[in-house]
Amino acid sequence: MKKFVATVVLSALPFAVTADMDEYKAEAGKITGAFFDELKGELVKAMTAGGPVAAIGVCHGLAPAIAMKHSQQSGWDVGRTSLKTRNPGNAPDAWETQVLQQFAQRRANGEGPDALVYSEVVEEGGDRYFRFMKGIVMPPLDKMPCLKCHGEEIDAETAERLDALYPEDQARGYKAGQVRGAFTLKKKL
Ligand code: HEC
Repeated sequence: MKKFVATVVLSALPFAVTADMDEYKAEAGKITGAFFDELKGELVKAMTAGGPVAAIGVCHGLAPAIAMKHSQQSGWDVGRTSLKTRNPGNAPDAWETQVLQQFAQRRANGEGPDALVYSEVVEEGGDRYFRFMKGIVMPPLDKMPCLKCHGEEIDAETAERLDALYPEDQARGYKAGQVRGAFTLKKKL
């Protein structure tokens, strides 16, 4: 199995940066966890109260707001991205596209959902950034309601609402186990 490990990148960096990298990775993991927990909580609450049509409002309005809140609290850029976005505002940049392709490949090679993590120090426009991504794999419908809005069978009323809000929606037709996208975090060094 082909493995992509951050140590390849780390080995080229001075010691102080490699020591910090572990801290950054741990911090990025914590921020991602808190963001996901809050999003899932709101989503499940809204699905239980009003079904998928009502819950679209959570994803539409609340998901970006929750991302913004976690960005402000942590000082990191926090968001979600995908190779097939629903909201074109979440489209990946070149680095994110490569990592998403890497995650899809790793998944195809049998890596588990929790293993899909990648981080790297990159230089952009003369500045250095720590960048981190954690893959999001579609859970089965008996675990989470994700497929109701991203799966192959979306009920007519939900589809109509999605069409109205997201005319460029590409985020449908997923199956459980596929990489849906990733959390993406960035911090200026
Ligand atoms: C009620 C419908 C609904 C459900 C259920 C739902 N989503 Fe979404 N999802 C959306 C909408 C609407 C957006 C667009 C949000 C925005 O405008 O930023 C979205 C966006 C996303 C994105 C960001 C990338 C993109 O395509 O814009 C990811 C990743 C994602 N969803 C994963 C999930 C996962 C994982 C679950 C289950 C935990 C889930 N979704 C459940 C409606 C839903």
